[in-house]
Amino acid sequence: MTHTTKPLVIANWKMNPATLVEAKNIYTGSKLAAKKYPTVQVVVAAPALYLLELQKLQKNTALTLGAQTMHEAVSGAHTGELSAAMLVSAGVASVIVGHSERRMLGEDDTSIGRKVLAALKAKLMPIVCVGERERDTQGNFYAAIESQIKTALALAPQSRLKDVVIAYEPIWAIGTGKTATVDDICEMKLFIQKCLTKQYSRSIAARVRIIYGGSVTAENAVLLFEGGTVDGFLVGGASLKPEEFTKIIAATS
Ligand code: PGA
Repeated sequence: MTHTTKPLVIANWKMNPATLVEAKNIYTGSKLAAKKYPTVQVVVAAPALYLLELQKLQKNTALTLGAQTMHEAVSGAHTGELSAAMLVSAGVASVIVGHSERRMLGEDDTSIGRKVLAALKAKLMPIVCVGERERDTQGNFYAAIESQIKTALALAPQSRLKDVVIAYEPIWAIGTGKTATVDDICEMKLFIQKCLTKQYSRSIAARVRIIYGGSVTAENAVLLFEGGTVDGFLVGGASLKPEEFTKIIAATS
């Protein structure tokens, strides 16, 4: 895993598509997009079951594969789970950790911290999702974001923080068609950098890529990328449509 400052666009397919044939088609479209825009780092976080098959198509591409979650333990009695080493052996380079849809299934801050450590140890790039359920007018949600970041990174060695990506994903913006405004995104990016500076140092804060997720589309990507000053996107719904995903990648190139 080498640190890069390239813009980063991650496709989070979630529990889609229904068949391997469709998965290969979407993957192929994303691969073409990655080739067309080499200045952008493109990751496809596919359902775990498809990863080995997609890995076979990984020729002549800078696109990498990601997983949508993992277990923090090395091995053991964890029915249905996958370890970091298993993901690495399937050719996976990164893993989404703490997505709000996983948090809703019981993933808590402490286990997210352990997952980040396990991912880094296995040389997987952790993509740590943080985000508020709602915005109160007093701005109390900022404290919640700070606490999510603190616990998620609590076990990570400082020397490895440059390999961590933070995805700001306001929960109310995921899959709803309501994005945060560019000012909100810009402010949150600065706030996250401030938290990292307070916790570690300015140079560490400058090296952690901060991306945005939540209803990113081909239509709003240019505005959100430029106005939001983020380092890229975590894209759900729109990443399943290669033509639209390509435009989102283009917006960051
Ligand atoms: P969305 O999902 O783009 O469909 O809103 C984003 C995410 O959950 O990562």
